[in-house]
Amino acid sequence: MTEPLSGRNIAVAVGGGIAAYKACDLVRELRRAGAEVRVAMTKGACEFITPLTMQNLSGHPVFTDTFDSAQDQHYGHLTLAKWADLFVIAPATADLLARIKGGLGNDAVTTTLLAFRGPVLLAPAMNTAMWEHAETQANVTALLAQPKYRMVGPASGPLADGDVGMGRLAELKDIVQATVTLAVSGPLAGKRVLITAGPTREALDPVRFISNPSTGKMGLAVAEVARAQGAIVTVVLGPVETPAPKGVEVVRVTTADEMLAAVMSRVESVDVFVAAAAVSDWKAEQVSAVKEKKGDGPQTITFVRTPDVLATASAKVHGNPKRPLLVGFAAETNDVEAYAKGKLEKKRLDLIVANDVSKAGAGFGTDTNSVIVFDRAGEALRSTGTKREVAKDLWGLLHPRLHSTHGVG
Ligand code: CTP
Repeated sequence: MTEPLSGRNIAVAVGGGIAAYKACDLVRELRRAGAEVRVAMTKGACEFITPLTMQNLSGHPVFTDTFDSAQDQHYGHLTLAKWADLFVIAPATADLLARIKGGLGNDAVTTTLLAFRGPVLLAPAMNTAMWEHAETQANVTALLAQPKYRMVGPASGPLADGDVGMGRLAELKDIVQATVTLAVSGPLAGKRVLITAGPTREALDPVRFISNPSTGKMGLAVAEVARAQGAIVTVVLGPVETPAPKGVEVVRVTTADEMLAAVMSRVESVDVFVAAAAVSDWKAEQVSAVKEKKGDGPQTITFVRTPDVLATASAKVHGNPKRPLLVGFAAETNDVEAYAKGKLEKKRLDLIVANDVSKAGAGFGTDTNSVIVFDRAGEALRSTGTKREVAKDLWGLLHPRLHSTHGVG
């Protein structure tokens, strides 16, 4: 069983209140639930607990200062905002709530939140009078009117200052539970996604094969983001070293024929099929059972075509009353647009993600990519960045299409 938050990137933002010490345990609990956690702290939070504590508990440097160029460059507001799937603000103090409501960007936490497009869970904690203050109540009401904000707590009980009343940070288990609920209610909640990734390998004899340098990174990034957004993900993965993301079912295959079999038995029960694998186009007509001995002269091997996994799957699902969205990749070195559009038509796809693999920073083995996505109407998206960022943009493009009827006939 996978942990409830495995594969999720969660940013914990800590405000400056006495309950900040509880945020330390919250980071541990979220990690125990499977999440990757990074932390941002306000200046006030750093008065209560140290960034070093949070660095040790989260396993990552902590973002505390937008004007520290070393921080901002490597794990600062834009990086953290792009990385996170979800933000948990704990404790959300009266001051922090006011600044978020006001759209301010005057510290590490608020600048990051301004750049963040995903869901935010507020876990307020403060003295009862501050909680009940009309301005605080107005700020909370205004924030919760926006769909991206949710709240857990505050709870009622004894407070740090000796008062008893409303304002305690919610119990950690309740914050974790609210995080899980929010995380699995992402834009792909409950959607089933099938992805092919990596190369295939076609044997010539027991010790030789034909293949290509694909590392599977792009397909695995598409899988990771889908899982983080709530999808149930299966990756049919060729032979690669790249580790698969947590929380994703992996079906290991070696050859194009094996990939085809794994895809055909699953494709009719998914909502989206993304073919990111670099399938070997040829295999040897005869595979020698023993190691071929080399002669002095040239060697002739007859290659035959492997099955086209994507085209075969597309043919199978077309005509079904409800078919998955079909997304292909086109790795090209020239005439990118024309070839990509040709594949979109020929394989009867909804989208094709085209990249020029001859460009630096795009294609096999890199951590970055630069793509143009086409649909039947023409260019639909351009995206450049880490493969995870490109994958996020791709899912952003797919969300509205998933909720409308699938259809190119
Ligand atoms: N594809 C596939 N099975 C194959 C070949 C390709 O599923 N045997 C899929 C890829 O995963 C990708 C798309 O088809 O989503 C296009 O792959 P690409 O290798 O760029 O194109 P090909 O159709 O193989 O054409 P060519 O190699 O001639 O450019």
